[in-house]
Amino acid sequence: MLKRRSWAEPFKIKVVEPIKMTTREFREQAIKEAGFNTFLLKSEDVYIDLLTDSGTSAMSDWQWAGMMLGDEAYAGSKNFYHMEEAIRDVYGYQHVVPTHQGRGAEHIMSKCLIKPGDIIPGNMYFTTTRLHQELAGGKFVDVIIDEAHDPLSEHPFKGNIDLDKLKHWIDQAGAAHIPYISFAGCVNMAGGQPVSMANFRAVYELCRPLGIKVMFDATRNVENAYFIQQREPGYRDKSVAEILREMSSYSDGCTMSSKKDHLVNIGGFLAMNDDDFYQQAVNMVVVYEGLHTYGGMAGRDMEALARGIREAVHDDHIRARVGQVEYLGQKLLEEGVPIVVPIGGHAVFLDAKRFYAHLPQNQFPAQALAADLYVESGVRAMERGVVSAGRNKETGDHEYPKLELVRLTIPRRVYTQAHMDITAESVIDLYEKRTQAVGLKMIFEPPYLRFFQARFERLGG
Ligand code: F0G
Repeated sequence: MLKRRSWAEPFKIKVVEPIKMTTREFREQAIKEAGFNTFLLKSEDVYIDLLTDSGTSAMSDWQWAGMMLGDEAYAGSKNFYHMEEAIRDVYGYQHVVPTHQGRGAEHIMSKCLIKPGDIIPGNMYFTTTRLHQELAGGKFVDVIIDEAHDPLSEHPFKGNIDLDKLKHWIDQAGAAHIPYISFAGCVNMAGGQPVSMANFRAVYELCRPLGIKVMFDATRNVENAYFIQQREPGYRDKSVAEILREMSSYSDGCTMSSKKDHLVNIGGFLAMNDDDFYQQAVNMVVVYEGLHTYGGMAGRDMEALARGIREAVHDDHIRARVGQVEYLGQKLLEEGVPIVVPIGGHAVFLDAKRFYAHLPQNQFPAQALAADLYVESGVRAMERGVVSAGRNKETGDHEYPKLELVRLTIPRRVYTQAHMDITAESVIDLYEKRTQAVGLKMIFEPPYLRFFQARFERLGG
């Protein structure tokens, strides 16, 4: 058993937002109306909202003060220059193209770099990222190490790329048909699992001489840097900021959903070092997002973002942030609840295949578990399994991912240790009566990113 690290929050609370308590009968009705899809619940009917850490974090007083300094000029807002300067300082990339959020950056990058028929290797897919690659005519191939697909493997860097798998695809497709490697830190779909510095370096050293770009999905790279500090020999005495800079030096740029690491409710960007790519991207951003000095954000949003970037890399902040996730995960492990190990950076992932072992994957065990957790206690989680994986392009059948998970995602600086205790108790109660659970049947399925809007019914009524 790991010894618990102390992680008390490096802040005190100045403003509070009341939350509603509901009854089981109310929640049973609400989840039925939401088609057993937690994305379709009303936020005000949720007690503890662990749907996502995206855009749900609490801003600091310094960020809120920055909101009053928004320069809402159409062109050349000073807040854009603050943001650009923060990205250059903290990540080290030369050029910054602002976008409204992460998928805006993915869209622009995919359109600029991918030609029909191209192959994009990456360390496990992310929903929006893969879809933009496909819409641009590319094909995503997964080159993450096998351990990432095993919820029981204790590998400390389950986000790593398997260099042999990557070399295989380079041989197969030819470097000219691989526009870039799609390389994410703290891999979301694997359970928030980090990549080692050695792996970042090795992938870059392999790709650079071949002219293949390495593009990070840097959405949770600050959390990744923290794991390197904690787990990789030689990094204990380095700050998270120093580690992050070194990570970025093994890449040609990144897409970023600032709604995670950067502690803002909205925002993102595409960054790169290459001048030609930048010219293409600024041209594209005016078509799809907005002028290249706001990209869909208000000036005040860019100021909050500029400040959030700098706060995100404070060691005491990130230690408390990841520490809180670990606190919840440890509580569940102590009671024998099956979760993905090691505990990830942004979330605790329940292993629905073992939790609801009696439900086959075509009855959507993770979707059912997320719905049951809401009914049990008003805690809202998210399915990350067969519903999120979508359908196979060729056969039309469901993709059946090895990982069938429910994500308890912790917003940054929002909930207290008592909220984590309540959450753990609810999950444990549900685990004790797991054999009573019934599966679901899908009754409505949208064509893209179906997990957001699909509707279900309980089997047997
Ligand atoms: N990349 C990763 C790794 C993400 O987790 C997300 C969003 C995106 C890209 C897209 O960014 O939402 O700003 O357009 N993840 C959210 C989540 C939705 O809940 O994990 P976006």
